[in-house]
Amino acid sequence: MSSTLGASLIHDANFIYGLYIVAFALFIYGLSGLTGPKTAVRGNRIAAVGMVIAVVTTLLIPALDPDGEAIPGFGIGGLDWAVIAGAVIVGAPLGWASAKKVKMTAMPQMVALFNGVGGGTVALIAWIEFRRRTYIEGDLEVAIPSLFALIVGSVSFWGSNVAFAKLQELVDGKPRGLPGQQYFNLILLLGALGISAFIAVKTSQGDQPSELFVIGLLLITGVLGLMLVFPIGGADMPVVISLLNAFTGLSAAAMGVALDNTALIVAGMIVGASGTILTNQMAVAMNRTIPAIIAGGFGGGDTGGGSGAPGVEGVMRATSSSDAAIQMAYANQVVIVPGYGLAVAQAQHTVRELAKELEKRGVEVKYAIHPVAGRMPGHMNVLLAEADVPYDQLKEMEEINGDFARTDVSLVIGANDVTNPAANDDPGSPIYGMPILNVNESKSTIVLKRGRGSGYAGIENPLFFDPKTSMLFGDAKSSVADIVKELQEL
Ligand code: TAP
Repeated sequence: MSSTLGASLIHDANFIYGLYIVAFALFIYGLSGLTGPKTAVRGNRIAAVGMVIAVVTTLLIPALDPDGEAIPGFGIGGLDWAVIAGAVIVGAPLGWASAKKVKMTAMPQMVALFNGVGGGTVALIAWIEFRRRTYIEGDLEVAIPSLFALIVGSVSFWGSNVAFAKLQELVDGKPRGLPGQQYFNLILLLGALGISAFIAVKTSQGDQPSELFVIGLLLITGVLGLMLVFPIGGADMPVVISLLNAFTGLSAAAMGVALDNTALIVAGMIVGASGTILTNQMAVAMNRTIPAIIAGGFGGGDTGGGSGAPGVEGVMRATSSSDAAIQMAYANQVVIVPGYGLAVAQAQHTVRELAKELEKRGVEVKYAIHPVAGRMPGHMNVLLAEADVPYDQLKEMEEINGDFARTDVSLVIGANDVTNPAANDDPGSPIYGMPILNVNESKSTIVLKRGRGSGYAGIENPLFFDPKTSMLFGDAKSSVADIVKELQEL
């Protein structure tokens, strides 16, 4: 009885659409949870439940023929089901284990890898649909979105792999391009569009061109994906990953149009839209434009001292943990400026201890959060939330910048580019115009870093040479722990 009811429900298109709507509602509700660190994990889980519902619902669809009858060989109990189960058994533990194992600082390359897999899958589905002759059966309505999905998905796959390799330091992070690279890319794009137009015209004439054209299209777009990302420097890479993420979303949505699958359209558009908004926000926070990022050439991930900004004068003045402790113990206000180095050192819990020690002495402690500190959006918020830093102590850049002038000590922990005053005063600097934390306005600054190397953009930071600045060299976690010890002994 219940299996008959189940079968008739599955055969009902409204039931399928109903399940999809539940899935979309969960995606959107889950996404709204990602707006704050406290609700983010729950939001992620809710969206994941939505995705499970969407996937299972989609798997049920092939069990139906147009009359609502089960198609032999497809769906539950059929061959497809075994292949899908095999893929889940292999893929799910791989995804779960790698997501569990990845370090927070390696998250951008992890996202690049997962994103690339999405784009590659879309391109392969577009190829398979060509082989299944749906281009011809569905005419241009299927051919055009499929070809779009193939091009964008393939570019995203290969581009994401280069981004992964650069961030993982498997290849050099410096911008690498050929002379006239942009023209070469334009020729590849025109070639891809030409082949697509040929396939579409043939399809509209009820004819199927040789499969070699589709394979050629995959090759050309693969080279285009590689060529687009190789000339982009490491410093722009997180923005590029977000852009490629948006590409994958758009390609999935296009494939959804071709396959008439609402879930794919909605999920693809959510990824496409959120990826586009995020890309734009990151670019604005770095004062970069998307065309300038794609043109490449900025930032080499060179942390070996950089070329030295012209006009940087003075010397770096080293200090000790005991001097730093005394300076902060007698301050009214201390602003902690976290950056990528804090994440590398995993110093967040020790920093929280330091803040507690200072607060015991009546010092007001705040945290200055730059929108692109670290290597991904919200990186610092997530780290500090992990250490239970009260959320109201985290101040966004616009809010804290007016406060630095009345700050006795700014404690810069593994932050570099986001504090570089050259962004404000040196028109020749590659980061000129990027909004920064105005740390140099504070009465004194203590910088915690391991050595004299430059930041992600590979340029020298005049803040470190400022007479009001002292440097405490060493790993951030042990430096902060030493300061805490000194404070406790004061
Ligand atoms: P960075 O400029 O990368 O500087 C990090 C500093 O941390 C380095 O100077 C390094 O100096 C120090 N460091 C590394 N490991 C350390 C450790 N264990 N202990 C102490 N110090 C350590 O960091 P930032 O100021 O956070 O700037 C972020 C950069 O990423 C910007 O250029 C930004 O444009 C770029 N970016 C970010 C995003 C997002 S969304 N966050 C997106 C695109 C680009 P030593 O090697 O001397 O220790």
